[in-house]
Amino acid sequence: MKWWQETVFYEIYMPSFKDGNGDGIGDFKGLLEKVPYLAELGVGGIWLTPFYPSPKVDNGYDVSDYYAVDPDYGTMADLEAFVEEAHRHGIRVIADMVVNHVSTEHAWFKAARSSRDNPKRDWFVWRDTPNNWESFFGGSAWKWDDVTKQYYYHSFAEEQVDLNWHHPAVEREIWKVFDFWLDKGLDGFRLDVINNLTLTRDFTDNPTENGEQRHLFDKDQPGMQKMMAKIGARIRTRGDYFTVGEISSDKLAEIEKYAGLDGLDVTFNFNFGSVASRDGIVAELARMQQVYADGRMPTLFVGSHDMSRSWNRLADGREDVAQLLATLMLTAYGVPFVYFGEEIGMADFVPESMREMRDVQGVYAYEQALQMGKSEQEALVLAQEKTRDKARAPMNWPEGFSQKANAWIGEVTPDFDRGQRMFAFYQALIKLRKTADFCESGYRDFEVDGEFLTYVRGEHLVCLNFGKAREVPNKWGNLTLVLANMEVAVSEEIIAVPAFAAVIFKI
Ligand code: GLC
Ligand code: CA
Repeated sequence: MKWWQETVFYEIYMPSFKDGNGDGIGDFKGLLEKVPYLAELGVGGIWLTPFYPSPKVDNGYDVSDYYAVDPDYGTMADLEAFVEEAHRHGIRVIADMVVNHVSTEHAWFKAARSSRDNPKRDWFVWRDTPNNWESFFGGSAWKWDDVTKQYYYHSFAEEQVDLNWHHPAVEREIWKVFDFWLDKGLDGFRLDVINNLTLTRDFTDNPTENGEQRHLFDKDQPGMQKMMAKIGARIRTRGDYFTVGEISSDKLAEIEKYAGLDGLDVTFNFNFGSVASRDGIVAELARMQQVYADGRMPTLFVGSHDMSRSWNRLADGREDVAQLLATLMLTAYGVPFVYFGEEIGMADFVPESMREMRDVQGVYAYEQALQMGKSEQEALVLAQEKTRDKARAPMNWPEGFSQKANAWIGEVTPDFDRGQRMFAFYQALIKLRKTADFCESGYRDFEVDGEFLTYVRGEHLVCLNFGKAREVPNKWGNLTLVLANMEVAVSEEIIAVPAFAAVIFKI
């Protein structure tokens, strides 16, 4: 058993978790104060979003120096103190590694764009004429560089320039970055948009379907699986570390092929966690159950910093549904990732004007809508749909997020009673998740009937009802209630399961 196979992870969006120095931005000092809170919740791992120096066009996913801590978040000593405190509480810490691209402010790119014959020129992707590839934030993925008269490639914002992984020096430099952070005592990495790496010199145009570009040739390029295996192996040879890859794909086959001993430890499945409604979740879990029957592990999550919060998107603002989702995520087979604030039932923050809009994706959506001739009001509505600010409002702490300043982004009104109930429920689930039944055994009796799901793990039976109330025959005999989000009647013959019930029994 690897440590990460029995770990519940907790994602922390750096600027939004806890402000320790009163400037309105989350930081390592604030994080350190909250380690006991995380220990009380029971999580065993933390994923930190990027904390490296960055102009923060995309809040740190535009790294300008891989070897330091952004002053907004503190110093290297603050980071070290935090990691030590987390370790003292038995909590491991993994860092977000953004190695598909760097900030245009990174020294490597500054050198590369200084002249065409700079030795670092080919660390990036340059062309005389752009192809039709679009950025994942919208608009062309190519930006004209007026000094050297060529276009450079950026698969995200134009300030995030893609590294050319075809060049061996790039690979070598990134290995050094990995080594540096592992030497600092971190326990592994979350690898950002890792299947986007540019590995080829083939720039075939992407096809268009129903007016939308299909990202066929700008990700999962030939050699990707090999590269993933190389990255995984490289980190594994260093020790007992954990890797989780962010794979942008809507195909389970693509996502799972990068996970396992010939790849990264696990990969995120967005068809499970970031779906627009909870309708397909049960069916997707059933597919995952088949795909991962070989002993590898899927990941389980219902939210992240890149999507609307599960409270709104999947739970329709209902506490029972939020608890149902939590039960699924924390009792199913896989590695769960709780997104900060989810454990207290935090809701979306929706910016009311462009002045309040912080996310580059929301800003891009607004600008594009205006270019297409939409009114400012229409453009705002589109930007509100696209913005990832929704999940980035600061954590609702009883004492507030910041001692002195207003937060860097708008806040959501707290509901502390709900927060306490949700917290207690998450806490109970996580405690249970740590027992052998839930981290060691796979599924028995995995059964899907429409939107009703049951499975047995070890000595525990889990019933999850995403549909209407129903009665099911009790084929397990003597059942003892362990945890439920509502009252459920059970006899020797029948279990009566109300709509949205989540129940765990001991058999
Ligand atoms: C990942 C991150 C997202 C970021 C993008 C570009 O999807 O999760 O926040 O904008 O990569 O780095
Ligand atoms: Ca701060």
